[in-house]
Amino acid sequence: MWRRHREPEPGTQTSTGRGAGPGNEKRLALRIPGAHRDTTAVLGGAYPFLTGKPGAEGMFIGHDTVTGQRFCFDPWQLYAQQSVSNTNVLVVGNIGWGKTNTAMAIALRGITCGYRVIVPGDPKNDWTRLAQALGGQAVRLGPGMPDRLNPLHLGTPPPGADVAAWRHRAEQRRSALMVAIVETVAPAITPLHPKARETLDAAIEGAARGNTTATLHHVVSALTAAGGDHADTMRAALAQLCTGPLAGILDQPATATPDPAAPMIAVGTAAVADNDLAHTLAVLTATSQLDSATGTGRRFVIYDEAWRILAAPTHLARVNAELRLSRARGTATILITHALSDTDRAADAGSSAAATARGLVALCDTCIIFRQAPGETDRTATELALTSPERAALPALGKGESLWRTGTATRRIHTDLGPTEAALFNTDSGQPA
Ligand SMILES: Nc1ncnc2c1ncn2[C@@H]1O[C@H](COP(=O)(O)OP(=O)(O)O)[C@@H](O)[C@H]1O
Ligand SMILES: [Mg+2]
Repeated sequence: MWRRHREPEPGTQTSTGRGAGPGNEKRLALRIPGAHRDTTAVLGGAYPFLTGKPGAEGMFIGHDTVTGQRFCFDPWQLYAQQSVSNTNVLVVGNIGWGKTNTAMAIALRGITCGYRVIVPGDPKNDWTRLAQALGGQAVRLGPGMPDRLNPLHLGTPPPGADVAAWRHRAEQRRSALMVAIVETVAPAITPLHPKARETLDAAIEGAARGNTTATLHHVVSALTAAGGDHADTMRAALAQLCTGPLAGILDQPATATPDPAAPMIAVGTAAVADNDLAHTLAVLTATSQLDSATGTGRRFVIYDEAWRILAAPTHLARVNAELRLSRARGTATILITHALSDTDRAADAGSSAAATARGLVALCDTCIIFRQAPGETDRTATELALTSPERAALPALGKGESLWRTGTATRRIHTDLGPTEAALFNTDSGQPA
């Protein structure tokens, strides 16, 4: 079906989708001589990762750099057609090849399809800028920032919610969040003893009763009053958030409450990104409060720089649960990471946390694979079970170009951005966060 050539013939179409020309000779390992037409089934056999049923439904993403066809994507439609077994998306590739821009194209175009976008942690504040530009909600956390989330705050019920049922769930969510905060600050008492949980719940209830602006300071006072071993250790843990370097992030009355009606909510964590503990706590609180506010309805939940989030065991467990529940909850989680080896940061290799982190990959039936970081191509190919043509394509991918594997079909796609989008998505503008 094809011949191998050393010298390209001008103007012929190649497996890379680029015309032959100076500098392209090295990529011309496979090509179809002259004009060639065949059915997609035949071409699918010949170029297993290049063809197949074009992704024609959903939001426009760009073009297939091999066939030139338009490429569209919608994880919920693919799931309804049984082309994928879940709605989650993994985006992996070296820094600077277009991961964030492609995810932003999905987000922006998703909003025009009526989907919402939630970004619970944004260590570079790229997404907060976009949320603001789109008329969504941008919350920037950190010491000295005007926006503050208060872990004790129950938030606002989503439109049309049964308020009593919502309140009950919001209180349970708050209780789980406080447990996670204590466990994160004091790993030595993790997992919290059931008696300690009871004590903590009583302190939260005591602090929040009749006080809608209760803060961690009130919980610390309630634990001091309660006394006892459990109360003392938890008080010491929470007191760290009220004084010292962690003060001012989560211990003040809320000035920001997630807006259930916003098309996009992004929580910028750049100001705490250099402090792992502060970053973990900020994202924990944001995720929990966003959960409560966003109710149902289809939404993308985006974790950019996901390794920052996966490195914390509490987040890892949470994201793992989120990926498993995505179909039921109407979410499509997009995990964006530099390299699959980032999952090693989640824990010592071989531990159960490391296994969970690697397992996240299997929970994403759509993989968007950009050019890989040096030394990562083989690992990516093995972990994602890429075919040899797919693996061979990785080092030749250009900026904004990636392999899209949706279920069993793989295509080579360039994300096409309009000028307004390109300006809006600018991730290296150096603008203040
Ligand atoms: N689809 C695209 N078309 C054109 N330029 C792109 C595209 N995707 C990314 N870029 C450019 O590449 C640079 C890096 O993109 P970015 O999305 O921030 O990469 P990553 O998130 O992988 O580090 C940006 O300056 C952006 O303008
Ligand atoms: Mg990025």
